[in-house]
Amino acid sequence: MKVLITAGPTREPIDPVRYLTNRSSGKMGYAIANAAAHAGHQVLLISGPTALDVPEGVDFLQIESAEEMYQAVADYLPRMDAGIFAAAVADYTPAVVPEQKIKKSDDSLTLKLVKTKDILGSAREIMGFRGFLVGFAAETENVEENAKLKLQKKGCDLVVANDVSRRDIGFDSSDNEAILVFRDRTELFEKAPKHDLAMYIVSMIGGAGVTTFKH
Ligand code: PMT
Repeated sequence: MKVLITAGPTREPIDPVRYLTNRSSGKMGYAIANAAAHAGHQVLLISGPTALDVPEGVDFLQIESAEEMYQAVADYLPRMDAGIFAAAVADYTPAVVPEQKIKKSDDSLTLKLVKTKDILGSAREIMGFRGFLVGFAAETENVEENAKLKLQKKGCDLVVANDVSRRDIGFDSSDNEAILVFRDRTELFEKAPKHDLAMYIVSMIGGAGVTTFKH
Protein backbone atom coordinates (compact mmCIF):
# COMPACT_ATOMS: atom_id res chain seq x y z
CA MET A 1 0.00 0.00 0.00
CA LYS A 2 1.00 3.63 -0.45
CA VAL A 3 0.88 5.26 2.98
CA LEU A 4 1.12 8.97 3.82
CA ILE A 5 2.09 9.81 7.40
CA THR A 6 2.24 13.25 9.05
CA ALA A 7 4.46 13.77 12.08
CA GLY A 8 5.99 16.31 14.42
CA PRO A 9 5.01 19.86 15.31
CA THR A 10 4.40 22.81 13.04
CA ARG A 11 6.06 26.20 13.44
CA GLU A 12 3.85 29.24 12.95
CA PRO A 13 5.93 32.36 12.22
CA ILE A 14 5.41 35.45 14.39
CA ASP A 15 8.14 37.45 12.66
CA PRO A 16 11.37 36.46 10.82
CA VAL A 17 13.01 35.15 14.02
CA ARG A 18 10.16 33.87 16.23
CA TYR A 19 7.47 31.21 15.97
CA LEU A 20 4.69 29.39 17.85
CA THR A 21 5.02 25.63 18.22
CA ASN A 22 4.23 22.70 20.59
CA ARG A 23 5.92 19.82 22.40
CA SER A 24 5.61 17.16 19.68
CA SER A 25 8.95 15.40 19.12
CA GLY A 26 7.82 13.44 16.07
CA LYS A 27 8.57 10.10 17.79
CA MET A 28 5.07 8.68 17.30
CA GLY A 29 4.82 9.57 13.60
CA TYR A 30 8.38 8.46 12.80
CA ALA A 31 7.76 5.13 14.58
CA ILE A 32 4.68 4.63 12.37
CA ALA A 33 6.69 5.47 9.24
CA ASN A 34 9.37 2.99 10.28
CA ALA A 35 6.83 0.26 11.04
CA ALA A 36 4.99 0.85 7.75
CA ALA A 37 8.22 0.66 5.73
CA HIS A 38 9.17 -2.58 7.53
CA ALA A 39 5.74 -3.99 6.72
CA GLY A 40 6.56 -3.48 3.02
CA HIS A 41 4.45 -0.37 2.39
CA GLN A 42 5.57 2.56 0.23
CA VAL A 43 5.77 5.40 2.74
CA LEU A 44 5.72 9.19 2.40
CA LEU A 45 6.51 10.96 5.68
CA ILE A 46 5.52 14.64 5.83
CA SER A 47 7.06 16.17 8.91
CA GLY A 48 7.52 19.38 10.80
CA PRO A 49 10.93 20.14 12.33
CA THR A 50 12.23 17.36 14.62
CA ALA A 51 15.61 16.10 15.85
CA LEU A 52 14.96 12.60 14.50
CA ASP A 53 16.62 10.70 11.65
CA VAL A 54 14.36 9.87 8.72
CA PRO A 55 13.62 6.11 8.84
CA GLU A 56 15.30 4.05 6.13
CA GLY A 57 13.29 3.35 2.99
CA VAL A 58 10.88 6.23 3.58
CA ASP A 59 10.23 9.17 1.21
CA PHE A 60 10.44 12.40 3.16
CA LEU A 61 9.04 15.91 2.86
CA GLN A 62 10.04 18.54 5.41
CA ILE A 63 7.60 21.36 6.09
CA GLU A 64 7.39 24.09 8.72
CA SER A 65 3.96 25.66 9.00
CA ALA A 66 0.43 24.24 9.12
CA GLU A 67 -0.24 25.82 5.72
CA GLU A 68 2.81 24.08 4.22
CA MET A 69 1.69 20.77 5.71
CA TYR A 70 -1.80 21.28 4.28
CA GLN A 71 -0.40 21.92 0.78
CA ALA A 72 1.92 18.90 0.91
CA VAL A 73 -0.87 16.59 2.09
CA ALA A 74 -3.30 17.97 -0.52
CA ASP A 75 -0.70 17.28 -3.25
CA TYR A 76 -0.07 13.63 -2.32
CA LEU A 77 -3.03 12.23 -0.36
CA PRO A 78 -5.37 11.56 -3.31
CA ARG A 79 -2.81 9.02 -4.68
CA MET A 80 -2.48 7.14 -1.37
CA ASP A 81 -4.17 4.02 0.01
CA ALA A 82 -3.87 5.11 3.64
CA GLY A 83 -3.28 8.35 5.53
CA ILE A 84 -2.10 8.43 9.14
CA PHE A 85 -2.15 11.87 10.76
CA ALA A 86 0.10 11.87 13.84
CA ALA A 87 1.33 15.47 13.46
CA ALA A 88 0.52 18.06 16.11
CA VAL A 89 -0.62 20.78 13.72
CA ALA A 90 -1.15 24.28 15.11
CA ASP A 91 -4.83 25.15 15.31
CA TYR A 92 -4.09 28.88 15.12
CA THR A 93 -1.43 30.96 13.38
CA PRO A 94 -0.55 34.67 13.56
CA ALA A 95 -2.86 36.69 11.30
CA VAL A 96 -0.08 38.96 10.07
CA VAL A 97 3.65 38.22 9.84
CA PRO A 98 5.74 41.40 9.59
CA GLU A 99 8.82 41.33 7.36
CA GLN A 100 10.97 42.88 10.10
CA LYS A 101 11.60 41.61 13.63
CA ILE A 102 9.04 42.95 16.13
CA LYS A 103 10.81 45.48 18.37
CA LYS A 104 10.41 45.53 22.14
CA SER A 105 8.32 48.60 23.05
CA ASP A 106 5.14 48.54 25.18
CA ASP A 107 4.73 46.49 28.39
CA SER A 108 2.33 44.11 26.67
CA LEU A 109 1.97 42.81 23.15
CA THR A 110 -1.16 41.27 21.65
CA LEU A 111 -0.89 38.78 18.81
CA LYS A 112 -3.96 38.20 16.66
CA LEU A 113 -4.28 34.53 15.68
CA VAL A 114 -6.47 33.03 12.99
CA LYS A 115 -7.54 29.41 12.52
CA THR A 116 -5.38 27.14 10.37
CA LYS A 117 -6.91 24.75 7.85
CA ASP A 118 -7.99 21.41 9.33
CA ILE A 119 -5.92 18.96 7.28
CA LEU A 120 -7.51 15.77 8.63
CA GLY A 121 -10.96 17.35 8.35
CA SER A 122 -10.30 18.19 4.68
CA ALA A 123 -9.18 14.69 3.67
CA ARG A 124 -12.59 13.33 2.65
CA GLU A 125 -14.67 16.24 1.40
CA ILE A 126 -12.05 18.63 0.04
CA MET A 127 -9.17 16.32 -1.00
CA GLY A 128 -11.49 13.51 -2.09
CA PHE A 129 -9.52 10.82 -0.23
CA ARG A 130 -11.20 7.40 -0.25
CA GLY A 131 -8.49 5.29 1.43
CA PHE A 132 -8.05 4.18 5.03
CA LEU A 133 -7.94 7.27 7.24
CA VAL A 134 -6.33 7.35 10.68
CA GLY A 135 -6.54 10.46 12.84
CA PHE A 136 -5.01 11.06 16.24
CA ALA A 137 -6.69 12.84 19.13
CA ALA A 138 -4.51 14.63 21.66
CA GLU A 139 -6.82 15.05 24.63
CA THR A 140 -6.52 16.13 28.25
CA GLU A 141 -10.06 15.11 29.28
CA ASN A 142 -12.99 12.96 28.02
CA VAL A 143 -10.50 11.10 25.83
CA GLU A 144 -12.78 8.36 24.46
CA GLU A 145 -15.84 10.59 24.01
CA ASN A 146 -13.86 13.24 22.10
CA ALA A 147 -12.22 10.57 19.92
CA LYS A 148 -15.62 9.14 18.98
CA LEU A 149 -16.84 12.61 17.95
CA LYS A 150 -13.64 13.12 15.89
CA LEU A 151 -14.12 9.77 14.12
CA GLN A 152 -17.60 10.78 12.94
CA LYS A 153 -16.85 14.40 12.15
CA LYS A 154 -13.68 13.78 10.13
CA GLY A 155 -14.78 10.55 8.41
CA CYS A 156 -11.94 8.49 9.91
CA ASP A 157 -11.72 4.69 9.96
CA LEU A 158 -9.69 4.84 13.16
CA VAL A 159 -8.90 7.51 15.75
CA VAL A 160 -5.94 6.92 18.05
CA ALA A 161 -6.61 8.93 21.19
CA ASN A 162 -3.88 9.68 23.70
CA ASP A 163 -3.99 11.56 26.99
CA VAL A 164 -1.47 14.38 26.56
CA SER A 165 -1.85 15.61 30.14
CA ARG A 166 0.37 12.68 31.23
CA ARG A 167 4.15 13.07 31.18
CA ASP A 168 4.89 9.33 30.82
CA ILE A 169 3.00 9.02 27.51
CA GLY A 170 1.97 11.33 24.64
CA PHE A 171 4.24 14.25 23.78
CA ASP A 172 8.00 13.62 23.65
CA SER A 173 7.97 10.36 25.63
CA SER A 174 9.22 6.99 24.38
CA ASP A 175 5.99 5.24 25.39
CA ASN A 176 2.37 5.77 24.59
CA GLU A 177 -1.01 4.45 25.70
CA ALA A 178 -4.04 4.92 23.53
CA ILE A 179 -7.72 4.30 23.08
CA LEU A 180 -8.27 3.07 19.54
CA VAL A 181 -11.72 4.04 18.30
CA PHE A 182 -12.83 2.16 15.16
CA ARG A 183 -16.19 2.59 13.46
CA ASP A 184 -17.44 -0.66 15.01
CA ARG A 185 -15.48 -1.02 18.26
CA THR A 186 -13.10 0.51 20.79
CA GLU A 187 -9.86 -1.01 22.07
CA LEU A 188 -7.41 -0.01 24.79
CA PHE A 189 -3.74 -0.25 23.82
CA GLU A 190 -1.92 -0.35 27.14
CA LYS A 191 1.26 1.62 27.79
CA ALA A 192 4.10 0.34 25.63
CA PRO A 193 6.95 1.73 23.51
CA LYS A 194 5.67 3.95 20.67
CA HIS A 195 7.22 1.45 18.27
CA ASP A 196 4.79 -1.26 19.49
CA LEU A 197 1.77 1.01 19.10
CA ALA A 198 3.08 2.00 15.65
CA MET A 199 3.27 -1.64 14.55
CA TYR A 200 -0.27 -2.24 15.80
CA ILE A 201 -1.66 0.79 13.95
CA VAL A 202 0.09 -0.30 10.74
CA SER A 203 -1.35 -3.80 11.12
CA MET A 204 -4.83 -2.21 11.22
CA ILE A 205 -4.71 -0.18 8.00
CA GLY A 206 -7.19 -1.89 5.73
CA GLY A 207 -6.87 -4.93 8.00
CA ALA A 208 -9.37 -7.75 8.41
CA GLY A 209 -12.49 -6.93 10.36
CA VAL A 210 -12.19 -3.19 9.81
CA THR A 211 -14.96 -1.49 7.91
CA THR A 212 -13.51 0.99 5.44
CA PHE A 213 -15.30 4.35 5.36
CA LYS A 214 -17.94 4.57 2.64
CA HIS A 215 -19.83 7.64 1.46
O1 PMT B 1 5.41 13.63 18.39
P1 PMT B 1 5.41 12.93 19.75
O2 PMT B 1 6.28 13.66 20.77
O3 PMT B 1 5.77 11.47 19.65
O4 PMT B 1 3.95 13.03 20.36
C1 PMT B 1 2.96 12.24 19.82
C2 PMT B 1 1.64 12.99 19.74
C3 PMT B 1 1.11 13.23 21.14
C4 PMT B 1 1.88 14.31 19.03
C5 PMT B 1 0.66 12.13 18.88
O5 PMT B 1 0.49 10.88 19.47
C6 PMT B 1 -0.67 12.83 18.72
O6 PMT B 1 -1.58 12.78 19.54
N1 PMT B 1 -0.79 13.56 17.57
C7 PMT B 1 -1.94 14.43 17.28
C8 PMT B 1 -1.72 15.73 17.97
C9 PMT B 1 -2.85 16.70 17.73
O7 PMT B 1 -2.59 17.79 17.24
O8 PMT B 1 -4.07 16.28 18.01
P2 PMT B 1 -5.45 17.14 17.85
O9 PMT B 1 -6.44 16.46 18.71
O10 PMT B 1 -5.18 18.61 18.06
O11 PMT B 1 -5.78 16.93 16.31
C10 PMT B 1 -6.61 15.89 15.87
C11 PMT B 1 -6.16 15.35 14.54
O12 PMT B 1 -6.30 16.36 13.54
C12 PMT B 1 -4.72 14.87 14.47
O13 PMT B 1 -4.68 13.71 13.64
C13 PMT B 1 -3.98 16.03 13.81
O14 PMT B 1 -2.84 15.58 13.06
C14 PMT B 1 -5.06 16.58 12.88
N2 PMT B 1 -5.00 18.02 12.62
C15 PMT B 1 -5.10 18.94 13.61
C16 PMT B 1 -5.13 20.30 13.32
C17 PMT B 1 -5.05 20.69 11.96
N3 PMT B 1 -5.05 21.98 11.63
N4 PMT B 1 -4.97 19.76 11.01
C18 PMT B 1 -4.94 18.44 11.31
O15 PMT B 1 -4.86 17.58 10.41
